[in-house]
Order: sequence, then structure tokens, then C-alpha cells
Amino acid sequence: MKAEELVCRRFQALKAYDPTRSVEALAQEVGVSVAGVVKLDGNENPYGPSPRVKRALARYPYFHIYPDPYQTALRKALAGYVGLGEEYIVAGAGSDELIDLILRLFLDPGDRVVNLPPTFGMYPFSTLVCGGEVAEVPRDDDFQIDLEGAKKAAGPRTKVVFVASPNNPSGTTTDRKTIQALLKTGIIVVVDEAYYEFCGETVADLVPKYDNLIVLRTFSKWAGLAGLRVGYGAFPRAIAEYIMKMKPPYNINAAAQVAALASLRDLEYLRGRVQDILKERERLFFELSRLLYMRPHPSRANFILCRVMGGRAKYLWQGLRQRGIFVRYFDTPRLKDFVRISVGRPEDTDALLAALKEVAHG
Ligand SMILES: Cc1ncc(COP(=O)(O)O)c(C=O)c1O
Repeated sequence: MKAEELVCRRFQALKAYDPTRSVEALAQEVGVSVAGVVKLDGNENPYGPSPRVKRALARYPYFHIYPDPYQTALRKALAGYVGLGEEYIVAGAGSDELIDLILRLFLDPGDRVVNLPPTFGMYPFSTLVCGGEVAEVPRDDDFQIDLEGAKKAAGPRTKVVFVASPNNPSGTTTDRKTIQALLKTGIIVVVDEAYYEFCGETVADLVPKYDNLIVLRTFSKWAGLAGLRVGYGAFPRAIAEYIMKMKPPYNINAAAQVAALASLRDLEYLRGRVQDILKERERLFFELSRLLYMRPHPSRANFILCRVMGGRAKYLWQGLRQRGIFVRYFDTPRLKDFVRISVGRPEDTDALLAALKEVAHG
């Protein structure tokens, strides 16, 4: 028997996740300089981390020692930020890791996860990796979730539903009443608030009141730490204990712990950058809506989903790429006429608009 034949059957059929790539790789791919890349495809923070993060990393003396497996200082600081006790909080190597840990914790082979597409691709991907099955309940034309459909999908073997709010890629939020209605089904409701700081709406305060609500957050977007991989969740206490028990002991590396702590000590600076991004989102939305072939969708996050008229979304995406401007295109039936554009700095918007004119009229 060949070693490859020993691979679990579910991985043999698995389609790889389509991730955003590094600036260096993108520059090389299209033949522009690294400095010439305008990266608007990953919802990252174009301003980068707080200056305090860079200073704290430069000063940290213990990179040769394993990081704190109990995340003591970080969980304490996060508890203060979220407004819950630290026994509710666990950090992960990005919220991606927490999505995976949650699914590993709850799924026996063949158990189901409710997915509300179009939404973040890691939910169905990690479900399949963890041996689960995906029940798709599509969103409506305005990208709102189908509550009745989701409730119906919550059958006996259904364990988890993921609700991104604001949702990626639509930028739409799901209100608290809808979340509470989903919580009544009794399955685990994971509210992914990766973009919380851009919209200010949260259900984290409900976590102590429900034993089936998990809220995920990340430092990748508002805090500019995507490259260091640090996310966290607010979990019911019993579930937090399980996650602490099953997670890899050193899942948050020392640099990530130092950087996240320094970020939480510099909220004023980071909130200022969030305001800059929100201001630029308004400008980008206005400028896109002036283009006849673009229909931007109102967004509560740091990106805008935009319908491209005339079946030209892929063409536009490619034309922008050739000019060093990277936006996200999703090759799926539902999203084939859309591009998702992350909000950058004013100069990124200027470059995007100039390139859009060239591509559209070229
Ligand atoms: C809704 C949502 N959740 C989670 C993530 C992943 O965040 P992290 O970088 O913390 O893994 C993303 C990233 O795009 C996202 O859009």
C-alpha cells in the first residue's frame, strides 16, 4: 500500500482554501515592485500595528523561552477590553485557529454545521477538515440571513452555526434579536465579530447568559496584526475550559502575545486609525457609486462588496491585478459578478480609482 492511500478519505477530496498571499509573492506574480503593490484583497489594516507594538517587540528579552501556555497576561487584558471575566476568554493563532478548535471540540464524524453563504470560507473548509458536513442556508439578495431556514437546518446532528457579523464579504450585520432566536435552537452559535471595531455592535455581553454562545474576535483587522496571528474568543466558561485543555499549549507565540498586549495599551492610537479607515470607506463608497458599472453594497466593515455590471467582474479584477492593485474575486456562482475591495489609505483609493478608469475604458 502506498503511504498516500493511508490519507483520510475526506482529505483526498478536500479543495484547498483560497488564501490571500504575501505582498512579496503578489509583486513577483505580476512583475511590480513590492512598494508598488496596492493590497486591497485581505481586509488588512494598511496603517499596520501601533508604534508601541514595534517598540515592545524590539525590547522583549525572552524570545528563546516558550510563551505562556495559559495566556495569563493576555487573557487578563482581553477580559478588560471585552468586559468579561478572564475565565471566559481564550486566545488563538488568529480566529482561524479558534474556528478549527471549536469544530474539533464539537464535531463527531458526520455531524453538521450550518453555513450562511456567501460568508467567510473558513467555516465550511474547517468543517470538512474536522470530518463534519456542511448544511448551506443561503442569505437573501441583501445578504441578510434566512433565520427560518437556519432554524430548520438545526436538526439532531447539527452542532454549530457560524454567523459573521459584520459578514465577510457583504459587510452586513445580524441583529441581536436574530442571534437570540438562533440561540434558542440550542446548537452552538458562533458569532464571528472579526470586524467589530469598525461597526461597534457586539453580543459579547450575552456570553455569560447563554451556554451555547461563542463570540470570536481578531487583532488582524483593526489592530494591524494579521501577520502575527492573534485572535480570541469569549466562550461559556465550561467551553473555555475545554478549549484551554485541548489547544496546542503554545498556540500564541511570544511575539503575538507581546504585540497584542501592546495594542491593548494603545487603544487611542488604534481607534484613530479605525476612524481614518471609516472615513475612507465613505469616500470609497461614494466614488464607486459614481461609476456607472459599479454597485457598491453598504458596509459596516473595512471592505466594500461591489457588484460589477455587464458580467465584467473577473475582467476588472484581472486588469487591476496587472496594474499591481489587488482586490478579491470569488469564482462562485453567487459572487461571480462582484469584487470585494478592502478600504485602504487615501492614496490606495486614488490608485484604485485611476486604475479602474484605465481598465474600464481600455
Ligand atoms: C469573518 C472573518 N473571520 C475570521 C477571519 C480570520 O481572522 P484571523 O486573521 O484572526 O484568523 C477573517 C479574515 O478574513 C474573517 O473575514
